[in-house]
Amino acid sequence: MVTTSTSVPTAANPHVILVTGGSGMVGRAIAHVLDHPESDLLKEGNDPGNSGGNKNPGAKNQGFRHGADPSLWARRPHEKWVFLSSRDGDLRNAEHVRGIFEKHKPTHVIHLAAMVGGLFRNMRCQADFYNDNSAINDNILRAAHQTGVKKVISCLSTCIFPDKTTYPIDETMIHNGPPHSSNFGYAYAKRMVDVSSRAYRDQYGCDFTTVIPTNVYGPHDNFDLEDSHVIPGLIHRMFLTIDDKRDFDVWGTGAPRRQFIHSHDLARLTISSLRHYQGAEPIILSVSEEDEFSIKEVATMVGKSMAFKGKFKFDTTKADGQFKKTAANTKLQEFMPGYKFIPLEEGIRESAHWFLKNYATKVRGRKQDRVEAARKMFQALEAAGHWGTLGDLPSDLNSKCPGGPDEIRDAPWVAASSGGSGGGGHPGKRGRSGPDASLSGGSKQARDSDAAMQDMDMDEAGRGAGRTGAATAAVEHSADGRPRRSAASSGPGRSY
Ligand SMILES: NC(=O)c1ccc[n+]([C@@H]2O[C@H](COP(=O)([O-])OP(=O)(O)OC[C@H]3O[C@@H](n4cnc5c(N)ncnc54)[C@H](OP(=O)(O)O)[C@@H]3O)[C@@H](O)[C@H]2O)c1
Repeated sequence: MVTTSTSVPTAANPHVILVTGGSGMVGRAIAHVLDHPESDLLKEGNDPGNSGGNKNPGAKNQGFRHGADPSLWARRPHEKWVFLSSRDGDLRNAEHVRGIFEKHKPTHVIHLAAMVGGLFRNMRCQADFYNDNSAINDNILRAAHQTGVKKVISCLSTCIFPDKTTYPIDETMIHNGPPHSSNFGYAYAKRMVDVSSRAYRDQYGCDFTTVIPTNVYGPHDNFDLEDSHVIPGLIHRMFLTIDDKRDFDVWGTGAPRRQFIHSHDLARLTISSLRHYQGAEPIILSVSEEDEFSIKEVATMVGKSMAFKGKFKFDTTKADGQFKKTAANTKLQEFMPGYKFIPLEEGIRESAHWFLKNYATKVRGRKQDRVEAARKMFQALEAAGHWGTLGDLPSDLNSKCPGGPDEIRDAPWVAASSGGSGGGGHPGKRGRSGPDASLSGGSKQARDSDAAMQDMDMDEAGRGAGRTGAATAAVEHSADGRPRRSAASSGPGRSY
């Protein structure tokens, strides 16, 4: 039974919602859907009230794809949203966090910020992942408690579930066994957010809870070739393949199956959870069990998204990883009955559109020598009418960090502070410290399968220039040519 509650902001009781990690993919998606609550609802072939729209008879808004009232996630009167990036303060540093809470006086927090990284970065920097994320999470929850924040929703991930488990995975199973050894630092830090949220609730009555998304993809994703999830990785490699006029290599057999959620769907569900979900137990935000797709199907959709005409080759020398990691969304269906997700094929096409359109300036992991090729490919597809209604996407999809963090760029606590627990000091402007990872050389040969690479939360190595240590080290390590297959494979039970 899902418990819900509603607290509506008024002039006398305004809400200030602080989004940590507001400059990341999910944070930007939240900003987007707040201002465009009906976006994604009326796409091609999705005539409202007709075919392609919501056909759930119990749904509130017959005809809307999402089967729910868009005002559930629209920006409301008397509500102020503040989106943070690392330039606003290093959240590992308690002093920075206190300063941010003092300045904005949030009544609500959506906590997204995390040190996230690829498989190999996780494997090599377990202590940093554990310590930095624990520090961020402790600082945020403590400050929220101390300043009387009414509600906190923190973001976990399905990759923190036990390695050895039964399927489908559900919300009750987070602590039922160790996570996979490859990311135990990250996973335990995330699991402790659940513990900490419950402890604050238990001792102080704080309304702190968590959401657990599956693999997220969408605009502003991390497309770095070395360190991305499967969809952005496939999109980037597909672009290079088409540009090079080659056949496309899928790493592994293509048989493993995964669930994906578009960042805009995650954003809608997260806002709705903040406003209406009540309970200590986390809630999994995922498409249904039936909506798992094989990596082969996903690769085919990616090929279609860029009008790829070549052949797919499957490199079966690459380890496949876990065959499936199915998560149940039964609780979500009860919470948001009739919610319809963006179909994967359409979401992938939108991501490919965003990737090519923004390659020169915003794509994490871009290669300078391919900028012109991306521009030409985008234009050729546009001229051929390939993008359809995507050409009309709201312009803020291409915006900078929403919410205007620039206004507190020179905040005194940031400038005066000597550095975070991770030695970060002033986070400064976002850095691109790493060498541009390349597909060439031994690391490609030894790479794991697309399925195996996809289950970790990723971030561009070196983002957040002031956050030193692990990020820089990860770039150096990931370029060192160490045999990836042997490093990643841990025999039976390997789950990522
Ligand atoms: N991506 C996925 O597939 C996925 C799946 C499941 C769960 N999740 C979870 O969803 C959340 C958001 O993920 P995302 O994909 O949006 O991540 P993202 O794009 O990599 O963004 C990470 C955000 O955290 C901020 N950040 C990191 N370290 C910080 C620090 N020390 N101080 C201040 N800010 C810091 C970053 O700021 P800068 O931009 O300034 O660096 C950025 O805004 C994370 O908690 C992640 O674990 C993601």
